Formats: sequence, structure tokens, C-alpha cells
Amino acid sequence: MHTVKTQPFFDQNPGTSGLRKKTKIFEKKNYAENFIQSIFDCAGPIRGKVLILGGDGRYLNKKIIQKVLKLAAGNGFSKVIVGKDGLLSTPAVSNLIRKHKAMGGIILSASHNPGGHDGDFGIKYNVENGGPAPDNLMRAIYDRSKKISRYFLAKEEDVSLVTLGIQIIAAMQVEIIDSVRDYADLMEELFDFTAIRHAIGRGFRFRFDAMHGVTGPYAHEIFERRLGFPSGTVVNGIPLADFGGKNPDPNLVYAKERYDMLDKGLDFAAASDGDGDRNLLIGKGIFVNPSDSLAILAANARLVKGYFSGIIGVARSMPTSTAVNYVADKHKFRVYETPTGWKFFSNLLDAGLVNLCGEESFGTSSSHIREKDGLWAILMWLNILAVTNKSVSDLVRLHWYTYGRNYYSRHDYEGVEEEVAERMINNLRMRLTDLRKTRIGNFLVKKADDFIYHDQIDNSVSVYQGIRILFQGARMIFRISGTGTEGATVRVYLEQYEADSAQHDKDTQTALSPLIRLSDEISGLKLSLKRSRPTVIT
Ligand code: G1P
Ligand code: ZN
Repeated sequence: MHTVKTQPFFDQNPGTSGLRKKTKIFEKKNYAENFIQSIFDCAGPIRGKVLILGGDGRYLNKKIIQKVLKLAAGNGFSKVIVGKDGLLSTPAVSNLIRKHKAMGGIILSASHNPGGHDGDFGIKYNVENGGPAPDNLMRAIYDRSKKISRYFLAKEEDVSLVTLGIQIIAAMQVEIIDSVRDYADLMEELFDFTAIRHAIGRGFRFRFDAMHGVTGPYAHEIFERRLGFPSGTVVNGIPLADFGGKNPDPNLVYAKERYDMLDKGLDFAAASDGDGDRNLLIGKGIFVNPSDSLAILAANARLVKGYFSGIIGVARSMPTSTAVNYVADKHKFRVYETPTGWKFFSNLLDAGLVNLCGEESFGTSSSHIREKDGLWAILMWLNILAVTNKSVSDLVRLHWYTYGRNYYSRHDYEGVEEEVAERMINNLRMRLTDLRKTRIGNFLVKKADDFIYHDQIDNSVSVYQGIRILFQGARMIFRISGTGTEGATVRVYLEQYEADSAQHDKDTQTALSPLIRLSDEISGLKLSLKRSRPTVIT
């Protein structure tokens, strides 16, 4: 055991989902060690505990895995369970933490951000319930990182990540496990694989794009080996350090080929991101908006027999559309509105108040783990499609017909100077009082505020969670992203409810255009950011 002297870095401030930076920053001497030791200093006591460890396979993954192992041994863990080749998806880590009653888990990933030496890297820490570390722990870790002067290291040889079984470093066990099996078993337990196999027998055609992220091996096992979809169903299934040079981001911009593929006779296409917690869903001629997906799953969950006996309650992040609220009104369950980021769902799930959660950012999951789960969402859809024998498009349209349609879009302005972005949001914040009750064109402002969340379980309060301006049947929200690595990203979320089914076939951007214009008028966004259009529209 060695105590190594170090100097603090002052930029290890975790965002919406762990510490995320340019890969090159993580290559600085002691950078990763400092942050990991800061986690261990704050998350303990450690002696005798188990840690789960894995990542999405991006550049630096294996190197940092070796560092974490030596630090874990130096800090007195009794055992670290690692996915083979250092691979574990975010949902798989959440599952393993719960299964092994571990102290927590370290996930090496920058999610859907690009990988490779010129891309991004990240370190996330999940706690004993399997969920992302809560805000107060992340703040403590950041404070610690600014004072750190030493870390504890076992000076040992690297561990082989290829051979399954137990190895010993210092006095600590390292167990290399099959990354896929436990997770695939869980999915098989939750869903009706027989019903899905029947759909395959009826000629149902499906394609899954792993985008060279971590889900490839999981998808081959679940879709092709266990469910019996033909080989070739999973594309881009080999995890690559640079994701094949593309963004492992399953939205309509980066996974557009999937949308185009539907012309080739597929019934359903789906994709997941680098670390496997996001999902993209596409049917013939239709892209399922993630907010709609949450509402449709809530309305149909009882069809997934043996798993969902009913919806207890649903939580959605505040910017996620209110589509699920219309389902809740009819089926009488409660909807909780939380700040952006999965960590805010954990307490509600632990307390048994909700069993379905979702975010507009392509994240959906249930109480089976404490993370969003890309493959879970896709299997949920496959299960519902199989038992209803309806097309994706029919299911979505029927849903709109029953509950109304929430036209919804997010406009991102990326790479904005941080100061400029902050100033724009601050100016808007100062105008909130004036905006209340004013009428602008056809829009009457019902409410204008900066979202504050009071967690009813741990009584914590989270402020500055997004400027929201609410109208009758419409909303716009402005916030700055907490996951970017270059400058600031300003996100504008737009939503317009339409009850009349004769009006449900409009193009989303066209339907939202009055609201889009109004959002610029109110915020002066394009002028202050000096942009004529968003960088990414989802
Ligand atoms: C983004 C999404 C958020 C998600 C997070 C991690 O955070 O908006 O919903 O939980 O990534 O995947 P943001 O960059 O907006 O802070
Ligand atoms: Zn992700």
C-alpha cells in the first residue's frame, strides 16, 4: 500500500450525470486518481465493502479501470466486481449493485458524447440503491476534490480483464464476470419473451442499432440468442473506443439511418447510446417522441403481464412533456415533476411512490433498477407491440386520439460562451414577474418561474432548475445543460397541446412555429446568442 501525494484540480465539478470532460483532461497525471479518491473519501465507510466497476468501452476505459482497481485495493474494499473487458452498461451496473448489495458502482462513460482520444470521457458514481449519487454527495465529492492532498494505492500488476473468475490484488478480490448474463436474465424475468417470439413468427421485423456502444453484446444475447430474431438484427454491435467516429447519441440527427431504414420493410427500429441508458424508437413513418413514449407505456403497462399490475405513479423531469399527465388524469395515478437528471427519481422509486419514470432526453425506465434503461424501454415496446398486434404508428395515433397530442420539441444551442448563456438566462429570470399574466398574441401567460424542487422524501431543495413559462395548453422552458464539455449548451423545450384529432398530422416544427417565434421574442435568444438557428433539434 502506498500513500501518493497529489495536488488538487479545481474543475472537478460534477454535472447532471457525473464528471464529464475532454478525454485529454482525464489523461493529466493524477486527474482520474484524485476524483476517484474523492469519491472514496466521501462515499464510505469502505472497509469490507463491495464495489461494481465497468464502462462503455470508450478510449481510456481499460486504463482507468486498472487505476480504479488499485485505488479500491488501497482504500480497503474487500471485493470489486468488474465486467469482462471492462464493459458494463449503466443499467447493468445499477442491477449488479442491487443484486450484490454493493456499496456502490463506478461507471466510466460520457454517455452519448463522442469518444476517442479527441472525444469525451466521464466518471459516474452510483450509490447502494443502484441510482446515481444524489446531489449532496456529488457536492461533497467536488468539495473534497478541491482539498485533496493524497490518494491510497496498491502498487500491483494490472489485472487481466479477459479471464472470468477471481484474482487477488493486495488483500482485495477482483471478480471478472460475464457483463451480460445477469442483465439478460433480469429482462427475461420481466418481459413476456414468448409473446415476442410469437410476433417474430408472424413476420414482425425489427432492427437494433448499438451505435458501437456498450449495448452490442447485450443486444446480441437478448434479441438474437434468447428471443430468436435473425442474426443481423443487431447492427453496429461491436463496442469501439471511438464509436466508429460517430456520436453514440440515439436521436434523429445521429441515428437518422435507422429512420431511413424503415422504408426497407421493417416494423420497428431502435437504438441506444454509448452506455446503454437511452433509447430511440422508430416505427413505419413515425418517430416516437420520448415524452409520448412515456405516456404510451403508462397507458399500456398493464398489458405487460406479470410485471406491471398497474401504474402506481409516474415521475417525469420537468421539461418532459405533460403527455403522461393526460393519462394520469384518466387512470387516476399521480405524476411527480422533478428536475432534469435521473438522480431525482431514486427517492420516489425507493419510497414506492412511482414505478415508471421518464425524461424527454430519450430516457425511460421502471423500478426494476435505479437508472434509465435503453434496452428495457425497447423490450417494453416490443412486448406491447407483440400482445396488441398493432403497428407502432397505430399505437401512437390511437394514443393521441384518446388523450390528445402534445406536440413537443427541444432546440439546443451548443458551444455558446458560458457567460453569454448565463446572461441570457439571468435576463429572462429578471423578467419573470413582468411576464406573469401578460398576453402575447394568442398566448396568455399563466405562470412564469424558475423551477424549484422540494424532495418530499429527504426534504432537500434544488433551485435554478430551469426557467418555465406556462400558457394554457402550452409551455416553454429554458435551461443550461449540465453535461456539455465545450462552452455552454442552451436548451429550449417547447410544447403545445392539441386535443382535436383532425389536427394531429402536422409536422412537429410547423405545429410549434408560433411558440418557437414567441420563445425567441420573449428571451431575445437568437440575438443574445448570435445564432440564427439551433445546433440540434430533437
Ligand atoms: C442531459 C439530459 C438529461 C439527462 C442527462 C444524462 O442533461 O437533458 O435529461 O438525464 O443528459 O443523460 P443536460 O445536458 O440537459 O443537463
Ligand atoms: Zn447514456
